[in-house]
Amino acid sequence: MSDQPNPSKKPFLYVVVCAAGIAGDIGKLITAAQEQQWDVGVVATPQALGFLDAQEIETRTGYPIHSAWRSPGDPRPLPPADAIAVAPATFNTINKWAAGFADTLALGILCEAHGLGIPTAVLPYLNSAMAAHPAYRQSLDRLREMSVLISSSEPHRPKSGGGADQFRWEEALELLTPAVSGPR
Ligand SMILES: Cc1cc2nc3c(=O)[nH]c(=O)nc-3n(C[C@H](O)[C@H](O)[C@H](O)COP(=O)(O)O)c2cc1C
Repeated sequence: MSDQPNPSKKPFLYVVVCAAGIAGDIGKLITAAQEQQWDVGVVATPQALGFLDAQEIETRTGYPIHSAWRSPGDPRPLPPADAIAVAPATFNTINKWAAGFADTLALGILCEAHGLGIPTAVLPYLNSAMAAHPAYRQSLDRLREMSVLISSSEPHRPKSGGGADQFRWEEALELLTPAVSGPR
């Protein structure tokens, strides 16, 4: 996945950010992860870039947001991942990931992570009208079969504001920490 050495001994977390309304709060997860001694790099879908403060993320993590494939011969921009948190995860990316699409860099990393055995957690953020589509439950079932760790949060009511204040970003770390520190 990467030939860039990790300069510290800390485990390296990829935070994959999708284009959900809550994405601008990603700093909460970055800060929580850093406080728990992770190094962090952010991978964003192209659509998610519009929700993010790229300069703030680079300052917080020490790495630019990674969103597009590099050119052949360019160095890999991030150290290899020890774990991946997909947060917030959209309906769109969840369904494409489960179905095996890799038409964004984020999806390519997620599809490959399964074969590499990288512990991966997903924090979906969507409303219940989108979640009612039959493809969504099938996608979650497929991700569970792939050993992806799925948050306990339920979809919010459409047009309810989404309960962004209650979104438990730290659940990604609660799910991943045992998977990374325990027997692999
Ligand atoms: C302001 C705004 C907020 C959105 N919030 C969500 C959301 O919370 N969950 C979701 O699944 N899609 C949401 N969408 C729709 C996604 O952005 C859209 O499906 C997009 O194609 C997802 O791309 P990605 O999965 O590659 O990030 C939102 C779109 C906009 C414009």
